Amino acid sequence: MKVIRTRKELEEYVAPYRQAGSSVALVPTMGALHAGHISLMRRAVAENDITVASVFVNPTQFNDKRDLEAYPRTEEADFRLLDEAGVSAVFAPAVDEVYPPEEAEREKHTFDLGRVAEVMEGAYRPGHFQGVAQIVSKLLRLASPDRAYFGEKDFQQIAVIRRMTETEGINVEIVACPICRESDGLALSSRNVRLTPSQRAVAPGIFRVLAESVGYSRDHSVRQTREYVESRVNALPECKVEYFSIVAADTLEDAGSWDCADRITGCITVYCGDVRLIDNITYRPLQQA
Ligand code: PAJ
Repeated sequence: MKVIRTRKELEEYVAPYRQAGSSVALVPTMGALHAGHISLMRRAVAENDITVASVFVNPTQFNDKRDLEAYPRTEEADFRLLDEAGVSAVFAPAVDEVYPPEEAEREKHTFDLGRVAEVMEGAYRPGHFQGVAQIVSKLLRLASPDRAYFGEKDFQQIAVIRRMTETEGINVEIVACPICRESDGLALSSRNVRLTPSQRAVAPGIFRVLAESVGYSRDHSVRQTREYVESRVNALPECKVEYFSIVAADTLEDAGSWDCADRITGCITVYCGDVRLIDNITYRPLQQA
């Protein structure tokens, strides 16, 4: 696996493949890789001629400086996992390479992300999606992939990135991949290592409640289902729901009823102690029990 540190090297690496008509995949990450990230890599490797991963803790998407500083950095282990997954190259630049101080003026562009970036995470993490759009648009322009792979763990992020590629005129297929979970149901996250042993023991309760609420939703309204989830997750020790929204999966607008959209998803954010965890579940179409 080739390790690439500069933007120029990345463009030069991809160019001959594009000229030869090979399919190129991009899988952006912030490192501290786990099996969830690797499931994206494996899918990209299976579906494309070459796969470029990126490992970059993007400062512009952190609205909390402490969160940025506490973000785990495990480059050596990350590169080993990427290599094992069959990734062709990893782009792992320094912050100044991605955001050179002399280009700061040009960086002031505000992305038109519409409503999908205002609700849920957009309301609780001001500026977060502008930062995500900034880094993902840069990566897409540098690597010019045919496909880019993202996890449904960050459900809203996918909607925001789709919108960004449309408004910015970037021609790429955005591939959404299913959430990878621990055997007890907890969604894999780089933040899970910050849970204390007692928090780690209760955290799977979040997904357990979400999964149970699908059955509950069969004969209860959207509002009743929302209340069911909120009260049960809040009853878990050390857990506090920040928001739980049941939304139309494409527009992310609050669902008024179960038949208001083809796909309806419940998105939750929970503080488990001071660790912020996110997860989501599909309510409609109903899975066969
Ligand atoms: P990061 O949190 O490192 O996640 C990288 C990709 O892995 C995202 O698409 C995310 O949805 C996916 N992912 C994380 N946990 C997952 C899980 N348990 N199952 C499936 N996929 C999972 O998301 C980001 O980084 C950044 O915002 C980024 C897009 C790289 C821009 O900086």
